[in-house]
Amino acid sequence: MTNFKSAKIVSVGSYVPENVMVNKEFEKFLDTSDEWITTRTGIRKRHIAPRDQLTAASDLGSRAAMVAIERAGLEPGDIDGIICATFTPDNFFPSTACSIQARLGCSSAYAFDVSAACAGFVYAITIANGLILSGRGKNVLVVGAEVISRTLDWTDRSTCILFGDGAGAVVIQGCNDVGQGILATHLASDGSLGNILELPAWGEKRTMKMKGNEVFKHAVRMMSEASIKVMKCSGTVLDDINFFIPHQANIRIIQAVADQLQIPVEKVVTNLEHYGNTSSASIPLALEEVWNKGAIVEGTRVLFTALGGGIAVGSAMVQF
Ligand SMILES: CC(C)(COP(=O)(O)OP(=O)(O)OC[C@H]1O[C@@H](n2cnc3c(N)ncnc32)[C@H](O)[C@@H]1OP(=O)(O)O)[C@@H](O)C(=O)NCCC(=O)NCCS
Repeated sequence: MTNFKSAKIVSVGSYVPENVMVNKEFEKFLDTSDEWITTRTGIRKRHIAPRDQLTAASDLGSRAAMVAIERAGLEPGDIDGIICATFTPDNFFPSTACSIQARLGCSSAYAFDVSAACAGFVYAITIANGLILSGRGKNVLVVGAEVISRTLDWTDRSTCILFGDGAGAVVIQGCNDVGQGILATHLASDGSLGNILELPAWGEKRTMKMKGNEVFKHAVRMMSEASIKVMKCSGTVLDDINFFIPHQANIRIIQAVADQLQIPVEKVVTNLEHYGNTSSASIPLALEEVWNKGAIVEGTRVLFTALGGGIAVGSAMVQF
């Protein structure tokens, strides 16, 4: 058992279903418009998993994970642990992480799921960091994978326009460079706000319900607070942050959080225009875009923050 001093994100991968749904398509069956959706949310299109065949979160997650494993220069057998953040698991059990393990042949890995809705990715990297620092392996695969389209009420114009399907994955690797990797994370939850964003597991009507205005207000407040906490905890000042990658829920939420934190617009990464809200996949999907541009180099410091049903919030300060 090796105890590493730190844990670094060494690669990222993503996968989205081919089928694209643009805002205009909602006009055919809802009292809404492309213009309303674009101006109120910033979203123009999203990828939706095929409805005729059963594409599961593990299908999307396996593809994203394979890209991340290859980019890390690893084989599936090198992975010591798999954590999948999802609120749309293939089954209650086996976990989606176990299905991904079987699919990829990560035969040396332990595997389990994390339920923190749209904050799931930040929760999962926090757990991966803790596992690596406590000697539970060197290479931990963190996957965020969602088929949210199956949970939506397609007659509810205030929710179904927001979401998309997709997956993102990172490999987190133990190392001994102090002052690098995952520098600090902060997690907080407020279960008393559970009813403002919920998806029941039982009963006739199992679709997502949301009080959009309420979620909006708490999202801005809680993501700002969590981000300030990780900045303090990691000794990071504003100028040290190269990129701010928030959960991609609504462009107005992102702008309000960035304003509160005084992060300049050129450092704020957004791609919800193309994907909508993909929940636990949204941060790795956005990270991959920056990564593919070659903008993530050694020493790049990135602030992640996300909020989801629970209410659960988390922020992480990461140095590449
Ligand atoms: C859902 C959301 C886009 C609604 O935007 P908003 O500016 O807050 O709009 P409101 O809820 O105040 O509604 C304003 C009006 O627009 C209407 N409206 C809602 N969705 C609409 C749509 N798709 N098209 C047209 N009108 C719509 C409402 O019915 C309301 O009409 P009314 O004034 O006649 O009652 C916004 O609240 C939001 O993004 N909230 C956060 C949701 C979220 O991110 N959840 C996931 C977090 S992980």
